[in-house]
Amino acid sequence: MAAFDQQRVLAVRHWTDRLFSFRTTRDRGFRFENGQFVMIGLEVDGRPLVRAYSIASANYEDELGFYSIKVPNGPLTSRLQSIAVGDMVLVGRKPTGTLVQDSLKDGRRLYLVSTGTGLAPFVSVIRDPVVYERFESVVLIHGCRFVDELAYGRAEVEAVKADEVLAEMVAGKLLYYPTVTREPFAHTGRVNELLRSGKLPADLGLPALDPADDRVMICGSEAMLADVVALMKEMAFDEGSTSRPGTYVIEKAFAEK
Ligand code: A2P
Repeated sequence: MAAFDQQRVLAVRHWTDRLFSFRTTRDRGFRFENGQFVMIGLEVDGRPLVRAYSIASANYEDELGFYSIKVPNGPLTSRLQSIAVGDMVLVGRKPTGTLVQDSLKDGRRLYLVSTGTGLAPFVSVIRDPVVYERFESVVLIHGCRFVDELAYGRAEVEAVKADEVLAEMVAGKLLYYPTVTREPFAHTGRVNELLRSGKLPADLGLPALDPADDRVMICGSEAMLADVVALMKEMAFDEGSTSRPGTYVIEKAFAEK
């Protein structure tokens, strides 16, 4: 288990029958950039059973946050969903990932585009003071099938807006746009369609997406990534990396089959 540390579960919250979040202790030596992921899991029969999870907490916090689906027959999540306070989970020692500030050029607005558990890395990013120094607006977009699946994201946005240190920094800058696709709600439709049509920026009083001013971080299912990346290319955005910063970056959301 040399590649992993054992961390203690400090809190667990079930949001729907398919979604839960939890927090763990954090090793003092564990360093990561906001937006990165790490391998986490459980020891099963003496062996690590791990998957890549985005860290849903900021890199200056004492604890680590995670957001997960529950798949009844999923090798890891069928077990992970029953963790309780005091249990131990494995956390890898080498966080990594592409949803980092260094891969994006400076710009005016930062769009964080997510569906499902793809929200998780952005829970970290919206707590990063650097993004509010770099950008005039930070737009958190979260698409789900049903309204109850938005609850964790809504709670995290409210927590940031109420946070002693962050509240002033994010006031008027952090814009939240939840949308659902399978029942009525204030905003409905798929995130790519709402961006393509210009409805989403217009609803927020912002201009249509433009690679001159906008930077985009994208996290969702493989199908969602394909559709949003196609839109980025149509709009002449270019994918960034730490060696060559660009106007958008992507990462696949964790999803156990
Ligand atoms: P829809 O209800 O139309 O399938 P999932 O749980 O399947 O990952 O879906 C989460 C959200 O992402 C749902 O609102 C779903 O819409 C939407 N979605 C699914 N596929 C795509 C896609 N290719 N592009 C954009 N959004 C998608």
